[in-house]
Amino acid sequence: MKEITDQLKGYTAALSLHVPGHHRHTIGSLHLPVEHDMTEITGLDDYHHAEDVIAKSELILSRHADYRARYLVNGTTTGILSVILAHKKLSTKRVAMMRNVHKSVLNALDLTGTEAVILPMTVSDKTNQYDGIDFDQLHINMLKKIDLVVLTYPNYFGEIFNIKEAIEWFHAHDIEVLVDEAHGAHFDITDSFPSSSIKYAGDYIVQSYHKTLPALTMGSVIHMKKQSKLVEEVYYYLSVLQTSSPSYLILSSLEQAHDFYLHYHDAVFLSQRSELIAGLKQTFDVIEVGDPLKLVIRKQGFTGEEIKALIEREQIFVELSTYDSVLLVLPLWHAGDTYPFKELVKRIERITVPERTSVFQSLILNQADGSYKPVTGQFKAVQLKEGVGCRVYHALTPYPPGIPYVLPGEVLTAGHIKVLETFENVHGIIDGNINIIDEG
Ligand SMILES: Cc1ncc(COP(=O)(O)O)c(C=O)c1O
Repeated sequence: MKEITDQLKGYTAALSLHVPGHHRHTIGSLHLPVEHDMTEITGLDDYHHAEDVIAKSELILSRHADYRARYLVNGTTTGILSVILAHKKLSTKRVAMMRNVHKSVLNALDLTGTEAVILPMTVSDKTNQYDGIDFDQLHINMLKKIDLVVLTYPNYFGEIFNIKEAIEWFHAHDIEVLVDEAHGAHFDITDSFPSSSIKYAGDYIVQSYHKTLPALTMGSVIHMKKQSKLVEEVYYYLSVLQTSSPSYLILSSLEQAHDFYLHYHDAVFLSQRSELIAGLKQTFDVIEVGDPLKLVIRKQGFTGEEIKALIEREQIFVELSTYDSVLLVLPLWHAGDTYPFKELVKRIERITVPERTSVFQSLILNQADGSYKPVTGQFKAVQLKEGVGCRVYHALTPYPPGIPYVLPGEVLTAGHIKVLETFENVHGIIDGNINIIDEG
């Protein structure tokens, strides 16, 4: 019995509306024979000291003359960790970050004991997700002793904000910018898609090629502006954190994905996307966001989990569900792809859903600025109300939807408690108690 292998074999009829971007090898034309799973023998260069084929390929990978690009074989996660570790080594200052940062950012802060200022956030009317920085509430005096900011652009749901203005604002205040562009590797692929922050001189930009372009899972790319302060130190940490046995299959898939990116035309994508939206609208509400590659669907009275189950009955698998919606990642359809698009539309049109009228309570997201301090040492349990003014040890997360409302290390306020009390189930509150940092 081979548990994983046998399970994987069960998806032959499955259609992918989720990552990775090759959508079960139907997008692009990845050529990855197992005999190309090689190691660093003569002629194949040395990933951690690239001077030959890998170095040459990385020159082509660079999207801008001012940038150096580096293949990542352990995902965007290691790119983010490396920038924050490099920052800690070279600077005594703190970092600032958006509230919707990926867990790798929090892990890097914890590993390095770095404190962070949480920026005031805007929330999307369409998806109720964090979608940008609230510059009206941001004042430079909040950013004392900050020389690096971490931005999430786009958010997971494909929503964008004015990244050009944001980068210019931080640069004007001598703050370097790390952009987590995990969900934007395909940006600028044609004019129909949003622009990458590479266009606007972000300092360190990390893209998960595997999420939206046809590359193997774990294949990412970091683009670093040549004159940014941490470049050499980031290279050092990339070597520390990544495997010493880099996969040539991942490297080759990244190179092929980049070639796909350079030669892509979007006519087929745009017309099939319209056809899919029309099919979805027969049953669901369809929410279009800044990135045409993402669609959010809803149905009044249904939880995201229920919608997902209805779709999965048709053997269509989606990226994720929230308390009230489902996120679809569309394939970058193109002439000659092998994605079974007609079958997808047929199955979507087959889905029927009864009418319901109930509406869910949606979470009022915490948009305020705050501060994150890595939690260390002892914790103690106190009644929720007694916790006002204390730093929480475990995140307080209303569930659903499962988005942290108060992060570990943040100071709990009476305002937080007012919102938290409106939820029946909050992870981090057990029998009315929360864990706070025992400051001794
Ligand atoms: C916003 C964001 N950043 C970073 C990552 C990590 O990317 P990777 O899977 O390439 O390590 C993810 C993964 O889902 C993500 O959603």
